[in-house]
Amino acid sequence: MKKITITIDGFSSTGKSTVAKQLAKALGYVYVDSGAMYRAVTLYAMQHQIITKDSFDIDRLISELDNVKVSFTYNDDLGFAEVYLNGKNVENDIRTLEVSQNVSQVAEISEVRRMLVLQQQQMGKEKGVVMDGRDIGTVVFPDAELKFFMTASAETRAKRRYKELLERNEVVSYDDVLKNVESRDLIDSTREDSPLMKAEDAIEIDNSNLSLVAQFETLHELAQTIINQ
Ligand code: CDP
Repeated sequence: MKKITITIDGFSSTGKSTVAKQLAKALGYVYVDSGAMYRAVTLYAMQHQIITKDSFDIDRLISELDNVKVSFTYNDDLGFAEVYLNGKNVENDIRTLEVSQNVSQVAEISEVRRMLVLQQQQMGKEKGVVMDGRDIGTVVFPDAELKFFMTASAETRAKRRYKELLERNEVVSYDDVLKNVESRDLIDSTREDSPLMKAEDAIEIDNSNLSLVAQFETLHELAQTIINQ
């Protein structure tokens, strides 16, 4: 059967990764969480005090990028690939609010983007991939056969992320989560290099009032149609 490339871009906490995982599983495709890669580089910068609450040594991060190896290893029990930073599983460590509060600044740096985009293109070169992020349909795979752009109101998204963080036993306030969602939206969509935007040929899905099942079925049907063409 024909293999295609599926891209899912959109604002923070729009549930891209949930539906991307479901879709990859149903189609037998590889799922790549490109945001996890930006988060892993951010974690490196935090661990080495390159980025702190009040400072960010961009030149140092750029000069150390050769030491930052981001990779994925499939976890059979979870059914998806977990992200590793220099050989260490950091799947949990990258999901904290603190990493979320720094990641968009790291993702603005062109040198970081260049390194990760090359790696993403390499991972998708055989097709049969579902990749989610901010610039996947516009920059990483502009020729992808099927592109989605997910949206939902900021409050809906903040509520979802707040619930997720509480489930992970993080002590956070709803206001801080909402602030983070809004500030990342702003930085991600106004940065100079590869800003978040809907690709011309992307299908927009507002999932504020869409159940997970309905959302999955919509995307899955569209994918099947293109695969069977
Ligand atoms: O929190 P959420 O799951 O929505 O975000 P993520 O997909 O984990 O991405 C975290 C951050 O990485 C985003 O806010 C962007 O700043 C950056 N990112 C990016 O610049 N380009 C991508 N392709 C993916 C993520």
